[in-house]
Amino acid sequence: MSDATFAMICCACGAEQVVKESVASQGWRLAFSRPGFVTLKHDGPAELPHGVFVRTASHSIGSARGDDADQLIETMSERLRGELGSTLRFDQLHVWPKDRVPIGRFGFEPGLDEVSRAVAEQVFSRIAESWLRCDAPNRIAESGERVLDLVLVEPSYWFYGWHMASDWPSRWPGGVQPIQPRYEPISRAYYKAAEAITWSGFEMREGDLAIEIGSAPGGACGRLLELGMTVIGIDPANMDERIAKHPRFRHLRARAGDLPRKEFRGAKWLLVDSNVKPDKTLVTVENIVTHRLSQIQGLLITLKIGDYEHASLIDRWMARIESWGPSRVRVRQLARNKVEVCFAITMGNRPAP
Ligand SMILES: C[S@@+](CC[C@H](N)C(=O)[O-])C[C@H]1O[C@@H](n2cnc3c(N)ncnc32)[C@H](O)[C@@H]1O
Repeated sequence: MSDATFAMICCACGAEQVVKESVASQGWRLAFSRPGFVTLKHDGPAELPHGVFVRTASHSIGSARGDDADQLIETMSERLRGELGSTLRFDQLHVWPKDRVPIGRFGFEPGLDEVSRAVAEQVFSRIAESWLRCDAPNRIAESGERVLDLVLVEPSYWFYGWHMASDWPSRWPGGVQPIQPRYEPISRAYYKAAEAITWSGFEMREGDLAIEIGSAPGGACGRLLELGMTVIGIDPANMDERIAKHPRFRHLRARAGDLPRKEFRGAKWLLVDSNVKPDKTLVTVENIVTHRLSQIQGLLITLKIGDYEHASLIDRWMARIESWGPSRVRVRQLARNKVEVCFAITMGNRPAP
């Protein structure tokens, strides 16, 4: 009898190979893959695979294929019963589609769509009584809750499994932050910034000074202002009027590397999202953050990889960032990142200047 463990992962389309390579050192081998979706096998019990490009990871239980949703639900229930017995309950049900195409192509954004919402309702109504403790599908899970996961690889090809929610991405359905902006965002960077801020756990507060390098047209600044912060945007390009005119916003129309260090005085948070070569960006940021007067406590830096084949650059960037003396550095391809990653860097306590 085999005691192999199976896992399923969702990632951005195009990242499958780099996911596979990164989890190989954890003992996981590829079983099946589609763009944006990978299943893996481990000889023996194992923790779920993890890595920079892993958006969601679940213990895999099975799959079902067919055009009749009721039949698919029946197959899934039987399989769950066979695998887990009939007494276990899940705290949440998450149902989402794997990504169809790379993020941004034809305007594609990851997350729930009409089909997955309809499937979620149908599955919920059929299995809630015997399997679930929640009152609706696709709620944000609490840390420590057991989540039943259903990935629609196609609308009629389902993979199901489960995971325990812990950090923020594992609490969101499909690892995509559900967010309803109060106003129409100025750019998709609004969502990227919102996700980065929540994922980082940075305690950004009303009245804090945040600076963004590469701020035009102003999606991310919109989020920072919404959180009550005072914001400086650095960009040679024009800011959207709605941001430019905001009373808590100041635009420095310049390239970040050309500005005197004093412009960064008093800033607690630094966001970087400029379309500049990553090595050059890191030189600029290094000069700012290692300055003796810097009071920056946290940085969120987006760096473009360009191509997944260059993912090994991340180790080099990490080594450089580590040399700044941070107390913690994490890196992740956020759900809203294109072929780029986000570094969340916590600087150690600084003596008051
Ligand atoms: C991806 S866009 C930024 C989107 C923006 N964060 C938002 O929320 O809407 C990249 C920006 O980087 C700016 N940029 C390029 N080189 C720069 C530099 N050296 N310093 C500051 N900004 C720069 C570009 O003008 C461009 O507006």
